[in-house]
Amino acid sequence: KKNLVIAIDGYSSCGKSTLAKALAKKLGFIYVDSGAMYRAVTLYFLRNNIDVSDDAAVIDALQHIELNFHSRDYESHITLNGEEVSDEIRLMPVSQNVSEVSAHKIVRHEMVKQQQRMGKSKSIVMDGRDIGTTVFPHSPLKFFMTADPKIRAERRFKELESKGNNQTTLEEVFENLAHRDYADTTRKESPLVRADDAIILDNTNLTQEEQLNFAIGKVEPLM
Ligand code: C5P
Repeated sequence: KKNLVIAIDGYSSCGKSTLAKALAKKLGFIYVDSGAMYRAVTLYFLRNNIDVSDDAAVIDALQHIELNFHSRDYESHITLNGEEVSDEIRLMPVSQNVSEVSAHKIVRHEMVKQQQRMGKSKSIVMDGRDIGTTVFPHSPLKFFMTADPKIRAERRFKELESKGNNQTTLEEVFENLAHRDYADTTRKESPLVRADDAIILDNTNLTQEEQLNFAIGKVEPLM
């Protein structure tokens, strides 16, 4: 039986990964967090002072980056050259620089290639910004998620807080989300846009369980 790739795209912090993980768990699929890949590349660039406007430096840096996912209880854990960086990539320095790095054509080209390889023979749920449009344009099941920006900022703020981060204010989180949405939707290379055949899911007023049930209802006819 052929493998199935489910694509979940949408704005920053609107619950893509929560739904993607729940779906993967329910279906026994592999969850792939494509944003974590751009974040890990950004962390490498920050640590090594890579100038994103220097194409040669970017190409060279990419050759020295090895990313791997380790799935534990459907949480996504990513390693950068063997080092576990899952927590560090969520902090503000990376969040504030990731849009610029992810807008880079050469960076995107390399990440998309690696993402396509992951969905070649396995059934996966992948979330991101261009999964339904660029990475897997032929996926038979695509979701496009959105939610009220204030609600999104509050959710992300609480998440950071629960991880013991209290240096960042709610206003900073809100500004960062607005900035990333703007940068992601207006960039030249595969901007964030709903694929024509993507199902819109606005979860402003939906519980996680309601979202999962909605999504499962769309998967069942395909299995
Ligand atoms: O999903 P997450 O918010 O962790 O993604 C971080 C950033 O990575 C996004 O703001 C976006 O700039 C970039 N990204 C992307 N394409 C993807 C996934 C993430 O450009 N498929």
